[in-house]
Amino acid sequence: MKKVFVSILALSLGVLTVFGTGCTKKQTELIMATNAEFPPYEYYDGDKIVGIDAEIAQAIADEMGATLVIEDMQFDSILASVQTGKADMGVAGMTITEDRLQNVDFSIPYATAMQVIIVPEDSDITTPDDLAGKTIGVQLGTTGDIYADDIEDATIERYNKGFEAVSALTQGKVDAVIIDNEPAKVFVSQNEGLKVVSEEFTIEEYAIAIKKGNTDLLNQVNDAISKLQESGKLQEIVDKYIKAE
Ligand code: ARG
Repeated sequence: MKKVFVSILALSLGVLTVFGTGCTKKQTELIMATNAEFPPYEYYDGDKIVGIDAEIAQAIADEMGATLVIEDMQFDSILASVQTGKADMGVAGMTITEDRLQNVDFSIPYATAMQVIIVPEDSDITTPDDLAGKTIGVQLGTTGDIYADDIEDATIERYNKGFEAVSALTQGKVDAVIIDNEPAKVFVSQNEGLKVVSEEFTIEEYAIAIKKGNTDLLNQVNDAISKLQESGKLQEIVDKYIKAE
């Protein structure tokens, strides 16, 4: 019922804009591609996808007067889905990298993150340098995967989901997992006997991926993010999902 109401509202707003201004073509649907295996940014609560990214995307859609549609897929399919126009934007705790910038545009960053190392509590791995020669679990196609690739003599086990890499760690199949810091905290809290190594691996920035050349949407998304930052709404969303230590 609520969904129907929201769609009607969005639709009327769209019609209003088209007729009201007579020029700007309004987007009625905003399709977000994500991989909902990444708490607290995107994950399932029952059959609903929730989290920081889901709420940021909803707020952006609200700003634009569009209805948000979330499509869950494998992380390494997100960029292709944006490039081919199947999705309007990739919102997935996605780090800006030089490589990805060859294929998509990125919005202004909305979060700072780190790649960290998860190990068993009794592990002898205490710094990133100790990873040489070890077996490392990562989520396929993530920056953790890319960095693990550079580690000397390491064997890399790639999983479709971050928590699968963490399960492999609890089962002793890998020696360590490289993953983003906030999901790392969640996974460690859900599994006994694991800890995050205090020295982080890299610092990175999350942004929204948009099809190259779609400057109209890029500008609207950037405007919406700026507004959310200035109004304090972005921080509010973050605080709802990440409790200060
Ligand atoms: N920040 C990392 C990257 O961009 C991992 C993101 C994983 N996100 C997800 N929704 N599974 O590669």
